[in-house]
Amino acid sequence: MDFDLDEQQQMIRKMAREFAEKEIKPVAGEFDEKASFPSEIIEKLGELGFMGMMVPEEYGGAAMDCVSYAIAVEEISRADASTGVTMSVTNSLACQPILDYGNEEQKKKYLPDLAQGKTLGAYSLTEPEAGSDAGNIQTTAVLDGDHYVVNGTKIFVTNGGKADIIVLFAATNKEAKTKGISTFIVEKGMPGFKAGKKEDKMGMRASDTSELVFEDCRVPKENLLGKEGAGFKIALATLDGGRIGIAAQAVGIGQACLEASIAYSKEREQFGRTICKFQAIQWILANMATDIEAARLLTYRTAHLKEKGERFTMAAAQAKLFASEAAVRAAINAVQVHGGYGYMKEYDVERYFRDSKLTEIYEGTSEVQRLVIAASLLR
Ligand code: CAA
Repeated sequence: MDFDLDEQQQMIRKMAREFAEKEIKPVAGEFDEKASFPSEIIEKLGELGFMGMMVPEEYGGAAMDCVSYAIAVEEISRADASTGVTMSVTNSLACQPILDYGNEEQKKKYLPDLAQGKTLGAYSLTEPEAGSDAGNIQTTAVLDGDHYVVNGTKIFVTNGGKADIIVLFAATNKEAKTKGISTFIVEKGMPGFKAGKKEDKMGMRASDTSELVFEDCRVPKENLLGKEGAGFKIALATLDGGRIGIAAQAVGIGQACLEASIAYSKEREQFGRTICKFQAIQWILANMATDIEAARLLTYRTAHLKEKGERFTMAAAQAKLFASEAAVRAAINAVQVHGGYGYMKEYDVERYFRDSKLTEIYEGTSEVQRLVIAASLLR
């Protein structure tokens, strides 16, 4: 067993941290306040090779391993979780399924631009009646000559309003339920497709979350990803990988909470001494650090399993479950350490508090992660 990061992984951490400190952290609060999307930062992340980290070089990617990817998402999220999820979704939920299930033509057509940040990707599964019950998809795709005609409305799509390429799940045979779902690559600009309402969120405000509307949208037959009817398995297998990204994001938020709390507790004086001298604060810091380190190890281990080609469904659910709950605990405690100041917008922990909550919800709620873990245990 080797817990050391290799040279490449260390280099990725350094690169991601330097970029995040310089380009993202100083403006993260402003983007959050205005709920505006940091397009230029995303473009630069693309130039660094961070938008398609696990895509092989032959398709224009950075050809990195999954642990490097987790480290990069962690470091970017340590500065700004919204930027972290924009990056994670393009890597895990757009590039990865095209890489895993796409034919040569699809890989050559879509991966290079996605991987280099020239286009942005999204993954569209959720609907009003299909949240945790992801199989209950009502959006339909009916074959008509050389096209599928798609009708329906998708919600809560990360990157939805900004994406050029959407990995879409729709029912091609409703009677067959989960065995009648298929996956499509939809391009922005295809007739009958438009982004709908942009959500006004509690946190992750610099990440775009939108509705997608399909009205007789004609998607060419060659944009079917994988086999017809295989979509539900593609959706769940893709989410396994996505959950590594969200776990890494939660680790980044937790780490930011810890660092902010240590720094503040060393400055703030009450009762004639800095508050880090009080055991009440020390215990909070100790618990936070232990939580975050455990979350990090679960996350890297899952990334390592994926890299080795082993089944990692349960490990990903465990990492996502633990890391997201650890991030929320860290954020609650970081606000507490900061006292009244922690509740004020001028301190970053206020944003971490709001951002952390979403990690327990998207890409499968904590309740869904527990279902996935239990199903693996009882299989
Ligand atoms: N990989 C591949 N196949 C899988 C799988 C996996 N991880 N998990 C299950 N399957 C297969 C099963 O083997 C089964 O196959 P058979 O029918 O051949 O036996 C099939 O998929 C159906 O499995 P289940 O019966 O377990 O499915 P279910 O309907 O009971 O659902 C669930 C289980 C775990 C609740 C699932 O619906 C789920 O994960 N829900 C949460 C969805 C989710 O995470 N949504 C987030 C969407 S993305 C988002 O958050 C926004 C964004 O933009 C990022």
